[in-house]
Amino acid sequence: MPDFRTLDSADLSGKRVLVRVDLNVPADSGKVTDFTRIERVVPTIKEISDKGGKVILLAHFGRPKGRDPKESLKPVAEAVARVVGRPVAFADDCIGEAAESAVAAMKNGDILCLENTRFHKEEEKNDPAFVEKLAKLGDVYVNDAFSAAHRAHASTEGLARKLPAYAGRTMQAELEALSRALETPTKPVIAVVGGAKVSTKLELLENLISKVDALVIGGAMANTFLFAQGVKIGKSLAEKEMADTARRILAKAEDANCAIILPVDATIAYHFEANAPSFNYGLDAIPADAMILDVGPQSMERIKGALDDAATLVWNGPLGAFEMKPFDAGTVTVARYAADRTKQKKLVSVAGGGDTVAALNAAGVGEKFTYVSTAGGAFLEWLEGRKLPGVEALRAS
Ligand code: 3PG
Ligand code: MG
Repeated sequence: MPDFRTLDSADLSGKRVLVRVDLNVPADSGKVTDFTRIERVVPTIKEISDKGGKVILLAHFGRPKGRDPKESLKPVAEAVARVVGRPVAFADDCIGEAAESAVAAMKNGDILCLENTRFHKEEEKNDPAFVEKLAKLGDVYVNDAFSAAHRAHASTEGLARKLPAYAGRTMQAELEALSRALETPTKPVIAVVGGAKVSTKLELLENLISKVDALVIGGAMANTFLFAQGVKIGKSLAEKEMADTARRILAKAEDANCAIILPVDATIAYHFEANAPSFNYGLDAIPADAMILDVGPQSMERIKGALDDAATLVWNGPLGAFEMKPFDAGTVTVARYAADRTKQKKLVSVAGGGDTVAALNAAGVGEKFTYVSTAGGAFLEWLEGRKLPGVEALRAS
C-alpha cells in the first residue's frame, strides 16, 4: 500500500488528532447491539493515545435531518469507552464553542468524541466553511472509516485535503485486504455473489466478470439467471424483466473467460417462513407453486469443488434465504468450507457487505475468513470498481 501514509510515519505526540471512525452501529433505543465496528477502531484509538496524541473522534450516526437527540452519539461514545477501557469525553457539538473548549481541555493521550457530524447539513455537502471549522480543532487527520469512504463528506473527504492525512490501522488493513483480493490476488480468483436483486448488483457483476476466473451466483439473483436460461422457477422471487440483462452478462462472462457457476438444484418450499417443510429438486422439476429458497445439495458440492480450484475468494451476499432455517444451509455449508480452506492456508478469503457479515457470523465463521469487512455500501462500490472519495483523498495527501 505504498501510496498511503499510515500511522507509522505520523508524528502524533502532543498533536490534536481528528480521527474519522465509523460509529454507525446497530442500536436499539440508545443501546448499542453490535460492537463490531467499535472493536475495529480500538487499535487506532489506543495507538494514537499511547503515542501521546489527543484523540478526537469524528463520526456520523444514522441519517438525521438536522439535530435529533435520538441520533446522538453520546450513548455510542459511552460504548466506545467501555470497549477501549479508557475514559472518553463527549462534546455536544462537532464544531464551535462546545467542541473547541472540550478540545482545549484535553491532555496528551486523552480521548474525546464529538457529536454526530450529520447534525450539520454542511457535513454531507462537504461545505468548505464547515471543513474549515472542523479543521480548526486538529493538527492531523486520520481516517479509520473505510465503511464511510464512499461518501464525499466533510469529515470523510474534505478534511483529508485540508490537514496532513493518514490511514488508520483499520483503514490500512481494509485496503490491504481488498487489494489482496482483487487488485493483486493470487490466482485463480473466485467470487461468490448472492442476494436478492440483479438490478442492484449489475455494475458489480460486470466488474467482477472482468477480474475473476469464476463467479458463483446464488440467492434470488440466481433465479433471474435460471429463468433467463429457460428454467421453470415456479413462484420463486426473480426479476423476470432482467432476463435480457442476465443473458448479456452470461455472454460477457464467456468472452472474458469467467466461468459462471449457477445452481444445479434447489431447496424449495411452498411457504416463505422459517421451518417450512422443504424439499430438494432438480432444476427440471421445480413445482409450479413452489419457491426456490436455497441452493440444493448438489449445488453446494459444485461450489465446494470450485473453491478447491481457487486461491482467492471474494464473497458478497448470502446464497439463500439465510435468515430462516433451514434455508441457511447453502450459505452456512459453503462459508464453513471456505473457512476450512482458509485455515489450511489454501485460500485467501475476503467477505463484506451488509447481510454478508451477519450470514458469516451466523455460520460461526466471521473470525475465520482472512478478512471480513464491516462495510456495506462502501464494499459494494469497491466491488463495482469505483473509486471511493474518502480513499482517494488519502491517496492524494
Ligand atoms: C454504513 O453504515 O454503511 C456507513 O456508516 C455509511 O452510512 P450511510 O449509508 O448513511 O452513509
Ligand atoms: Mg449504509
